[in-house]
Amino acid sequence: MPDTLTVTDNRTGKTYELPIAYGTYPEYGAYVPGVGLRTVKASDEDFGLLSYDPAFMNTASCKSAITHIDGDRGILRYRGYSIEDLAANSDYLESAYLTLVGELPTAEELERWTHEVKHHTIVHESIKKFFDGFHYDAHPMGMLVSSVAALSTFYPQARTIQDPEVRRHQIIRLIAKLPTLAAFAYRHSQGLPYVYPDNRLSFTGNFLSMMFRMTHDYVPDPVLERALDVLFILHLDHEQNCSANAMRSVGSAHADPYVCVSAAAAALWGPLHGGANEQVLRMLDEIGTVDRVPEYVERAKKGEFRLMGFGHRVYKNYDPRALILRDLANDVLEVTGRSPLLDLAKELERTALEDEYFVSRKLYPNVDFYSGIIYKAMGFPVDMFPVLFAIPRVAGWLAQWEEMLEDPDQKIARPRQVYTGEDLRGYVGIGER
Ligand code: SDX
Repeated sequence: MPDTLTVTDNRTGKTYELPIAYGTYPEYGAYVPGVGLRTVKASDEDFGLLSYDPAFMNTASCKSAITHIDGDRGILRYRGYSIEDLAANSDYLESAYLTLVGELPTAEELERWTHEVKHHTIVHESIKKFFDGFHYDAHPMGMLVSSVAALSTFYPQARTIQDPEVRRHQIIRLIAKLPTLAAFAYRHSQGLPYVYPDNRLSFTGNFLSMMFRMTHDYVPDPVLERALDVLFILHLDHEQNCSANAMRSVGSAHADPYVCVSAAAAALWGPLHGGANEQVLRMLDEIGTVDRVPEYVERAKKGEFRLMGFGHRVYKNYDPRALILRDLANDVLEVTGRSPLLDLAKELERTALEDEYFVSRKLYPNVDFYSGIIYKAMGFPVDMFPVLFAIPRVAGWLAQWEEMLEDPDQKIARPRQVYTGEDLRGYVGIGER
């Protein structure tokens, strides 16, 4: 049988043949080029058909080789490697290299990559003035979104986005400096002196040091260091999510990567997206005790609020990241001490997954459901959670950005619309309205 779609426009009786094409998995990504619908016209003067698809519920905005998600099977892979494999065997910097370059690095490539990232962790001293300007209770995500955009003013050459070497230099700077900006935001909010990067430490160890060092002999706990690596691997990329779409859209106008990352981080901060992990903790704190779980589940079913950390646009099964994080939470709490929040979360998960409302809507725990419990146990304040999401996700955003720039199919993002407003009408003086 031919790979075509035959459509008949009953307005004219005309029949059209549209080509069906495929990605890697024919059963998960067969598509017809949207532009083909433009040939379906009611008359020769007709513009042709648009596909109306608010929130892109069923629209592929690009072809991508970076991340594959199978929402029905609960599969997540970066460049073909499963997150289970990477979480067990890799670390964040190696997985970030894989996501950006497309292949796991050799030992020499990893050593050079790690050296380059570690030697770009310091930010210009003037950046501290930006943080000093924030109110003492400024939300750290607002500080991150602002300060990463401010970095753009320190690297004007970053606007030469067509040059691969310039792009690579900014990619390294952004991956290296986000943890520093994040830690500066935290230290500012605590009224603590800034801690500078210590490049003798690992990527995650250095971040923990910049966040929590209070004495010169601070040593990051290796269990927490490793847990942060796993958390960062799991948050690295997630194909065309809201913030990746923002990164691609702003990048398609050829803006520099710093302001693109700022736009993506702004999108991530939304409570329906990366801001959910903060909301999960606030929700668990409000529920308080296990005996109040049924009451809250009933209220969520009535639509009084969303069960934060549940549901996903793509996963209609368990978010595989949530399963890994549920086990990781046990490891971390062995070190930090038991948390009633974990028991509360597990009871909430059990109750919801036995309830028809959640089962029928295929609402399972997502990545945000357990990540916040681990971050809180590690000593991070709740308002730092979206910042902790942005730090690793910057590598995914940059991989999506560079793939978009190198894709010959792509140009400036500019969707069409279906106009439903008034037809032409004349101006009416104020006395006649
Ligand atoms: C992330 O896209 C990504 O990949 C994102 C992410 C990534 O790595 O980048 O995975 C990270 O953003 C994870 C999601 C974090 N957000 C939350 O946990 C917030 C709570 N969840 C949702 O609001 C919701 O589930 C979304 C936003 C995640 C998905 O929303 P959809 O796909 O647009 O689904 P929907 O809003 O159309 O809901 C379908 C139905 C509705 O009920 P009905 O109108 O059919 O009666 O399910 C209900 C919703 O009311 N529903 C929920 C619910 N989520 C959906 N009801 C209660 N609690 C929830 N959490």
